[in-house]
Amino acid sequence: MNFSRTAVIFVIKKYLFGKPFYTEAVVKNIESASESLPYFETVHSTGLKFTIKIQKDDAVYGLGEAMRGINKKGYIYNSFCADDPNHTEATRSLYGAHNFIVVKTADKLFGAFFDTPAVVTFDVCYSKFDELIITSENENMTVYIIDGDTIYDIVKEFRSIIGRSYIPPMWAFGYTQSRWSYIDKDDVRRVAKGYRDFDIPLDAIYMDIDYMERYKDFTVNDKTFGKLPEFIEEMKEDGIRLVPIIDAGVKIEDGYDIYEEGVKNNYFCTDKDGKPFEACVWPGMTHFPDFLNPEVRTWFGSKYKILTDMGIEGFWNDMNEPAIFFSQNSVDATHEKIKRMASEKFTIDEFNELKYYIGSRQNCDEDYSAFYHNTPSGRFCHKDMHNLYGYNMTRSAGEALEAIVPDKRILLFSRASYIGMHRYGGIWTGDNHSWWSHILNEIKVLPSLNMCGFLYVGADIGGFGCDTTRDLLLRWLSLGIFTPLMRNHAAAGTREQECYLFERPEDFKNIIDLRYRLIPYIYSEYMKAAINNEMMFKPLAFEFPEDKVACCTEDQLLLGDELMIAPVYTQNALGRYVYLPEEMTAVRMRAGELFFTEMEKGHHFVEIAENEVVFFIRKGKAIPLCKRAKCVEELDLSTIELIGPGEEYLLYTDDGFSKDYENPANFRMLKK
Ligand code: GLC
Repeated sequence: MNFSRTAVIFVIKKYLFGKPFYTEAVVKNIESASESLPYFETVHSTGLKFTIKIQKDDAVYGLGEAMRGINKKGYIYNSFCADDPNHTEATRSLYGAHNFIVVKTADKLFGAFFDTPAVVTFDVCYSKFDELIITSENENMTVYIIDGDTIYDIVKEFRSIIGRSYIPPMWAFGYTQSRWSYIDKDDVRRVAKGYRDFDIPLDAIYMDIDYMERYKDFTVNDKTFGKLPEFIEEMKEDGIRLVPIIDAGVKIEDGYDIYEEGVKNNYFCTDKDGKPFEACVWPGMTHFPDFLNPEVRTWFGSKYKILTDMGIEGFWNDMNEPAIFFSQNSVDATHEKIKRMASEKFTIDEFNELKYYIGSRQNCDEDYSAFYHNTPSGRFCHKDMHNLYGYNMTRSAGEALEAIVPDKRILLFSRASYIGMHRYGGIWTGDNHSWWSHILNEIKVLPSLNMCGFLYVGADIGGFGCDTTRDLLLRWLSLGIFTPLMRNHAAAGTREQECYLFERPEDFKNIIDLRYRLIPYIYSEYMKAAINNEMMFKPLAFEFPEDKVACCTEDQLLLGDELMIAPVYTQNALGRYVYLPEEMTAVRMRAGELFFTEMEKGHHFVEIAENEVVFFIRKGKAIPLCKRAKCVEELDLSTIELIGPGEEYLLYTDDGFSKDYENPANFRMLKK
């Protein structure tokens, strides 16, 4: 049986500027073109500048994790992995650098990937209302141009040259709970009991930085998490896995083996004098493993075994932009500045200047310019390699885990990323807030991430920063039940947001139960998207390009080939307006029961109470639904029934652990 879409003819070409660094984002051999770059007007001097005319009805899609809309027109984005906890409309860079776009104009449709580890600016009709201007101060870059008949074809071809997306174990599709931090085993037990007592499904609890001894990677605090292997087993017996965080910086501390090995073998990034570069992150002063060096990747990656040997089956890699709070240099420069200013008359302007200066010391250019990588192709300043750091940290883990546990999938996701990292792990979208606008952000970012290969994705449900509210969490869960990574996570000092702590916990249970009922569908669509290089979340614009309303609908998404979702993202809403580009069947979950309504193409106001979920099954389609269970491993797939107007559905099932993904026996056509 052929499970992929029919083959299309693509043209993909590679254009080299200067001496590009091979990022290993593209893994297929593509011939360099002899002609000059098509579509763009190119200026190549001390940097690079590519310009193309964009008209009112044109669109520019892609850029992965960038803020703002699905259609990126109207703003300016800097591709520079940034540890920025304020995701506002003014934010130009987030944790991921994802330089792939699809440009659609009246007479052109093509994809372009600007492959460079250095900063790239995408000015999408911001400086000039009718121009897309792409610039990089660095003159070395590889540009890939992909032609195709549809956006899907272009994305599929791009995905085929960057390699298959990461596939997590099936349990990682369950609901998971996190907080910075559960401070000891009893704290974790309390969370597990909270969920189990209210019969709310749960598959994992995350261990944030406090499980470590003084924030040292691959150590466990003996006082609070002593006898970790036994504890992992205890939790697993209840169907709950523990997922520890690993940070990029290695604490400088005599006697700490990882620090000592790193220094002895020159495994850390170095300063201009060749000494290990030092900067402050959570553990205090740290060194940064030189992940651009393959030997370092193998070394650091091998350390994950310390935790897998204890029974750990998943990790989240963090602070890997890398985040730098400060270096001694920046502290000294700040002191100097204060001293100098204090000796002069202090005016409001100087006060503001100082305030800005101090605020901008974190993750500053000066620090990123002060250290170096030793790569097989030479020594490079970090600033020019910046966007590859988090990618290669997760690659280090992914490649090592492949060797440590070759027969088993391990959960792995990262905060910072570059295209290419999607082969090794997923991402979460970092430190968002308990803001309604951040639910909408998540809707918009999902398809853009899928375009760039990131399929295992999700946001901190309920919001990471500031205090959540019951209604916000319920509404966010109603989106979260559809995302592959479904994790509720909150920052230290914020209100506790475990679902069982709120009034009427049964409302939370019903929504999360629905997630478990949908897992056969979500898992199948994920696996099909990974195997066939397709998008799991699609904008309406991609599916209905002739429908003007669909083309500008950015708060609804198609999920797989069968569903459309339209989550509520405003406070005190009765429901929301939904646009149906074709007739569909609305499925309403109310108090655990499902109700079906046939709906006509067009605009509708759909009432959705905060404890209900409504989603839409497309014309002629059906989806599988099983009985809920308290964790993924207890799902009974023999209870699957097909719902919706269609007659059949191609189900993907396997054991959820092993890696024989493309075995035809994993695909089963279910019929009503
Ligand atoms: C960073 C992470 C966040 C984590 C915190 C403490 O802010 O993004 O998820 O909880 O560090 O480790």
